Amino acid sequence: MHQPHRLWATSDIHIDNQENYQLLLDLSDQAYRNDMLIIAGDVTDNLQKLLDLLTAMQEKFLTVAFVPGNHELWLTDKTHQHSIEKFEAILAACDELEIVTRPVRFGQTDQSIWVVPLFSWYEQAPDKPASLFAPKHGVIDKTDELWRDFFLTKWPDSLELSIAEYFLELNSENLALSYDDPVVSFSHFLPRQELIYSNTTERRQNPLNRDDPYPEFNFSRVAGNWDLDKQIRDIGSRLHIYGHQHRNRTREIEGVTYISHCMGYPIERKSRHIARDAEHPRLIWQPDTGFTC
Ligand SMILES: [Fe+2]
Ligand SMILES: [Fe+2]
Repeated sequence: MHQPHRLWATSDIHIDNQENYQLLLDLSDQAYRNDMLIIAGDVTDNLQKLLDLLTAMQEKFLTVAFVPGNHELWLTDKTHQHSIEKFEAILAACDELEIVTRPVRFGQTDQSIWVVPLFSWYEQAPDKPASLFAPKHGVIDKTDELWRDFFLTKWPDSLELSIAEYFLELNSENLALSYDDPVVSFSHFLPRQELIYSNTTERRQNPLNRDDPYPEFNFSRVAGNWDLDKQIRDIGSRLHIYGHQHRNRTREIEGVTYISHCMGYPIERKSRHIARDAEHPRLIWQPDTGFTC
């Protein structure tokens, strides 16, 4: 039977939670054989477990595309000296497994799209124009004490750029390509400040989609990077997938549709901060009918 080439997306699958891992392993071995799966970061900090998961998904999907999130760059053992060394080891292992980390055309000859992975990190300095920082008034900011990246990542002293600038710079080859079909891009981090906050429609659909369950933690400090949005627009992206916040949204902003479809932690689905449909990757594009949103 002819099966179409479909594009699916997920992120923040956090497979150290066995329930999440099992949900992915339980995906059909037959239904996605012509399809592509985007995994937009935050699988696990354990490199071997990451590669096992990517291999398992590759056995189900025709193509798997991946960018590391912040959890992948945590140094939880002594294998790597710093987080960039671990990042490079992840990319090398992905190349060996033929996991896509660079732009690729997907579909059939008469109906295809470009899928463009974009590496990123959040701009941490609140006074830099690329930062998504928004101050919270009337609370003590304990983000520095609460955010585990600050304890579990390590960066080389020789890094001349900010961490955020370093990762965006890696995308320069992708920006130089010319894309002759519609572009779907994806990153782990958020490309725009307004995506941090729920809007009226989202609050109506899910009253639990609160903006601020932890007042002393200011997520905007570690959310993303405005310069990532410039790259998304430079390559003419029609649709951008992102993750990281564990707040799922679909928003059209100035001609680009932004989608977050994080699987998140089991507790977040049980408490309905994340809808149950995030247990399964989201259909993004298919031939004939095109984009699903
Ligand atoms: Fe995550
Ligand atoms: Fe993340």
